[in-house]
Amino acid sequence: MDFRLSPDHQQVRDMIRDLATSEFAPHAAAWDHDRILPTAALAQLAELGFYGLLVPEEHGGVGYDALAYAIALEELARVSAALSVMISVHNSVCCWPLVTYGTDEQKARFLPLLTAGTLGAFSLSEPGAGSDAASLSCAARLDGDHYVLNGTKNWVTNGAQAGVIVLFARTDPDPAVGPRGITAFLVTPDLPGFSVGKHEDKMGLRASDTVELALQDCRVPVANRLGAEGQGFKIAMSTLDGGRIGIGAQSLGIAGAAFAEAVKYADTRVTFGKKLHEHQPVAFLIAEMERRVAGARLLVHRAAWKKMNGLPHRIDASMAKLYASEAATFVTHRAIQIHGGYGYVKEYPVERYYRDARVTEIYEGASEIQRIVIARELVAAAAAAQLDAAPATHPTETAS
Ligand code: CAA
Repeated sequence: MDFRLSPDHQQVRDMIRDLATSEFAPHAAAWDHDRILPTAALAQLAELGFYGLLVPEEHGGVGYDALAYAIALEELARVSAALSVMISVHNSVCCWPLVTYGTDEQKARFLPLLTAGTLGAFSLSEPGAGSDAASLSCAARLDGDHYVLNGTKNWVTNGAQAGVIVLFARTDPDPAVGPRGITAFLVTPDLPGFSVGKHEDKMGLRASDTVELALQDCRVPVANRLGAEGQGFKIAMSTLDGGRIGIGAQSLGIAGAAFAEAVKYADTRVTFGKKLHEHQPVAFLIAEMERRVAGARLLVHRAAWKKMNGLPHRIDASMAKLYASEAATFVTHRAIQIHGGYGYVKEYPVERYYRDARVTEIYEGASEIQRIVIARELVAAAAAAQLDAAPATHPTETAS
């Protein structure tokens, strides 16, 4: 077992760290403060291939593996979590399902746009269906060669800027059908009946835009259906398996930035005649923060490694997101504590990190949902192991 990054992965990390530090870091606080969408940075990232990180080269992308991708998101998040979530949503939950479930025609139609700099989005949640995603009610009724969509979607990152939105609606209204009545669509903002609603005024990630979408008799061509009718929920869930690794990586970036600031401050600030880190309570805090960041990195990298090697990774993605997001909340909270009053004002970046970290425990599946996924996977694995062990002693097998 080798825990070192490969030379290629190190190169990705160093290249993106340099880029983010020199180009984006000087603006990140102002983007956040004034709620500025970083359009110039996004254009620069598009130019550099960041809009095709998970898109194979034959479709115009750069085809990063899952680990390189996680490293990229971590490095962006270290400087601007808002920028990283825009890139993460575009790649993990828009491009990835299109690459994985799209027809050749859909890939040919949409991927060149997406890799060239048109943002993508993902729209699953609704005002009445967040954690319980299968209860979504946005309706899609087949009418000739179109589906007619009606409903309201919310919490859509990139939703107002997106040229393509992977959106989920119910093609079978029978509640008994549940998740099997959900279908995925590729919705574009030019479709009649599509409009952008409220822009959320958020606690953190203020430079990224999160909106409500309204669909009023929105006519979506059948050619824009992603996957089969009724396959939408599985598309959403498998997409989120990858997305959650990305949010884990983002959490890691935020936590890493806060940790670095806290250590720097603890090594500069003097109280009661010695540096802050020479006081045992602060030293203990520093150790505890790093313990969590290092643990989170192992889980995020293991989940990414499993994904890139084609191994089942649902439980790993949930554990990575759960652990890393809670680590980010913890580390940013303690980074403020170490800064004292200075941590509470905008002169230092740690209050931004704290606000940005908070949502990582909520979006792409709240911590409670990750715990449910983990527990269900474990119970299913235990039951499968029992079944595997059972046949030899099962009465029907041994009767003859
Ligand atoms: N991959 C493939 N299929 C999956 C799957 C996965 N990861 N997880 C579940 N499925 C399948 C199941 O096998 C099942 O299939 P069958 O019908 O054939 O048996 C079907 O999907 C239904 O699964 P469940 O019974 O487990 O469904 P559930 O209703 O109990 O829900 C849940 C499970 C895990 C709680 C799910 O609802 C969930 O993940 N909720 C959170 C939603 C979420 O993360 N939303 C975030 C939206 S994006 C966002 O945050 C905004 C943004 O822009 C960033």
